[in-house]
Amino acid sequence: MSEDTPVAELRGINKIYGDGVPTQVLFDIDLLVRPGEFAAIVGASGSGKTTLLNIIGLLDTPTSGELILGGEDAARLEENERARFRREYLGFIFQFHYLLPEFTVLENAMIPCRLSKKDCRGEPQDRMVGLLEQVGLGDRLTYRPSQLSGGQQQRVAIVRALANDPDLVLADEPTGNLDSKSSNAVFDLMRELNRTTGKAFLMVTHDETFARQADRVIHIVDGRIERD
Ligand SMILES: Nc1ncnc2c1ncn2[C@@H]1O[C@H](COP(=O)(O)OP(=O)(O)OP(=O)(O)O)[C@@H](O)[C@H]1O
Ligand SMILES: [Mg+2]
Repeated sequence: MSEDTPVAELRGINKIYGDGVPTQVLFDIDLLVRPGEFAAIVGASGSGKTTLLNIIGLLDTPTSGELILGGEDAARLEENERARFRREYLGFIFQFHYLLPEFTVLENAMIPCRLSKKDCRGEPQDRMVGLLEQVGLGDRLTYRPSQLSGGQQQRVAIVRALANDPDLVLADEPTGNLDSKSSNAVFDLMRELNRTTGKAFLMVTHDETFARQADRVIHIVDGRIERD
């Protein structure tokens, strides 16, 4: 994979839900995500943003069309290969942080590494500690999620998304559950991590001011890319 291979490429992606009454949710989506870019996806509720992100994230399958991740045809992978791709090539940030309450901050951040059955001591752990310090949680490594604010919890989730050094981070309304001050802090951190780590970010947001600060804004209207 060369340096300018797109991190994700979609060609003619369609998604139809339902067997009884089929509903088409995505129509003929073509999209190219380049290495290192920070792209925002905006659109009305129900327009298909989460569906699109879930297809790129291999959490859902397209009805038709091609999905190429890091130069590999990802639409037709076996389930265990899909899982490997999700773990090693992609990072996920959701509206809710899904931290495990009985694990510490550092342990939560290390979970994707643990799941990939690598030895996570040494370099991977040092990198996670470094990132947690970078997001201002260096003195909270042994705290439990319940001992953190909402914004701090989401910062742990952002660091966790980077655990396996992914090429593409997918974020579905990562600030949707936060007050405006924490939202700004979380957004600024994602932007900073995008610059310092060079990972591409694809972020669904309802916030105009965040979208304006992205390299690129993808507008979805009724399951179609209307403007990009
Ligand atoms: N599993 C499913 N089965 C049937 N229809 C679904 C399913 N998931 C989503 N849909 C439909 O697909 C459409 C798009 O949903 P999606 O969640 O992608 O919207 P969204 O743009 O993310 O909206 P929001 O901004 O509210 O999160 C909706 O009309 C929804 O009802
Ligand atoms: Mg959604």
